[in-house]
Amino acid sequence: MADLRLPKAGTIEVVPSILSSDFAKLADEIAEIESAGVNMVHLDIMDGHFVPNMTIGPPVVAKLRQHDHDLVFDCHLMITEPARYVERFAEAGANHITFHIEAAGEPRTLIRKLHQLGCTAGICLNPETPVEAIEAVAPLCDMVLVMTVHPGFGAQEFIPEAAKKVIRVREIVGPDIRVEVDGGIDPEKTPIVVSYGADTLVAGHAIFSKTNRVAAINAIRDAAK
Ligand code: DX5
Ligand code: ZN
Repeated sequence: MADLRLPKAGTIEVVPSILSSDFAKLADEIAEIESAGVNMVHLDIMDGHFVPNMTIGPPVVAKLRQHDHDLVFDCHLMITEPARYVERFAEAGANHITFHIEAAGEPRTLIRKLHQLGCTAGICLNPETPVEAIEAVAPLCDMVLVMTVHPGFGAQEFIPEAAKKVIRVREIVGPDIRVEVDGGIDPEKTPIVVSYGADTLVAGHAIFSKTNRVAAINAIRDAAK
């Protein structure tokens, strides 16, 4: 079995988000993107409170884990009280767990807890949240996620001003921590975010709206070069 750790910084990773996939055949959808050689899959967890939409919880993650033993499950928790649920997501098979600074009571404690659970830790900031909000804790994480849309839905318009925060985040964390972008990423926006310092590119609509997902993933990879 592959080493299911967040890939070490230094490579560009295209991370398909299943939010725009067909939820009625999730395992097949994930198998298809895996055939493109991706190392990670992005699982959007929404609770209807932190964001006005609901998706999947630990039972679905656990079933997906039974089908897939090779992809890093990058779980993006768009939920209030993330500390209450991280244990269950880790048990379900999450490898990397990102929580939102806007929802975290004690981010340091939560990052420590994620590491104790054997997961890598991610912190995320919404488009309207300034980088200062994560400045002190970002270096304790394995990856920082900069939202480039307002969380909650797929296929939204990329927000250029939000993406610019990647520049400052990269200055803060240096070269060894991943910087992920999420929302409206496609081959056109990819060179912009990569030039700012992003190395981990989440894409939902740009991949799953296409009939040939492998070609869609390769188009983003090519745009990142
Ligand atoms: C938005 C989610 C994203 C979403 C991105 O709340 O966090 O992961 O799936 O989808 P696209 O790439 O369609 O903007
Ligand atoms: Zn996401």
